[in-house]
Amino acid sequence: MSSSVKKQLYEALANADGEYLSGQALADIIGCSRTAIWKHIEELRKSGFELEAVRKKGYRLISKPDKLSDHEILIGLETKTIGRHVHYYESVESTQLIAHKVAREEAPEGTLVIAGEQTGGKGRMARPWHSSKQQGIWMSLIIRPKLPPEKAPQFTLITAIACARAIEEVTGLETNIKWPNDILYKGKKLTGILTELQGEADKVNFLVIGIGMNVNQKKEDFPEHVKEIASSLEIEAGHKVSKIEMIQKILKYFEKYYELYMEKGFAPLKILWESYAAGIGKPIIARTITGEISGIALGISNEGILKVEDDEGTIHHIYSADIEF
Ligand code: BTN
Repeated sequence: MSSSVKKQLYEALANADGEYLSGQALADIIGCSRTAIWKHIEELRKSGFELEAVRKKGYRLISKPDKLSDHEILIGLETKTIGRHVHYYESVESTQLIAHKVAREEAPEGTLVIAGEQTGGKGRMARPWHSSKQQGIWMSLIIRPKLPPEKAPQFTLITAIACARAIEEVTGLETNIKWPNDILYKGKKLTGILTELQGEADKVNFLVIGIGMNVNQKKEDFPEHVKEIASSLEIEAGHKVSKIEMIQKILKYFEKYYELYMEKGFAPLKILWESYAAGIGKPIIARTITGEISGIALGISNEGILKVEDDEGTIHHIYSADIEF
């Protein structure tokens, strides 16, 4: 079936809004015979569309495949700038690397680089990030805020709020954020965020915000060493979750919180972040590049920096660390 027939057939069924369309009606729209329609319907099924056929009523679209493409992301996207330019790849080493490249080539504000699979996904602290084929959301967002570079880490927190909010809306799961970048559900990691900066001493040129979200993995899909610490939305919600819907919601909330931040600063975001925070008021160990600090996590400062009080009552300001609690 040619891709234009496929598109016409899909659009006709999608426009019917879950109602049945008879074989004859479809044949008239496409301009072919009813037998040809039956064959085209079978082809759509093979590409992952779920369709119902009922005698005397016709065909009805139940669901479309959750296969990513720039086209699918843009249909129904509710943002003004974020995600309005999409670079989609089936397989890349890391969307972060591509995003840096396209940002250097002047990709506009809000450009999204997204892949079906990453062969060399990067986590924080140079750790690998497991990014299996079509099972998760592996994407990097390019933004160009007019800010000094020391503000960059706040974007990890803003992105975490956007992801937690999107997860809540799409799946109903109430997640927690572990400073600075982990989204947890019942202590297991669902999402990680990696914010990278390209800038000068006094200004950001661009930020590349990488989001890795485990969506439709089953437990056995995770490598052995990851199984105990990570989970997916499908495992926790008990059903498959639409990646497209989730991406659109993340972008929508990211835009909303980014605008709020540029208008009012970090203060309103701090309140929101605290409503999702895990481990605050509890004993934690913060592993930084210069050593370990143990104490009680007091919360974050007005700049998004973690405050930890040790046994002697000294308050440490932590800019970057791995947290254990
Ligand atoms: C972490 O928790 O350590 C951060 C993980 C960030 C992973 C994402 S997946 C999309 C983007 N591309 C990468 O190579 N890494 C980020």
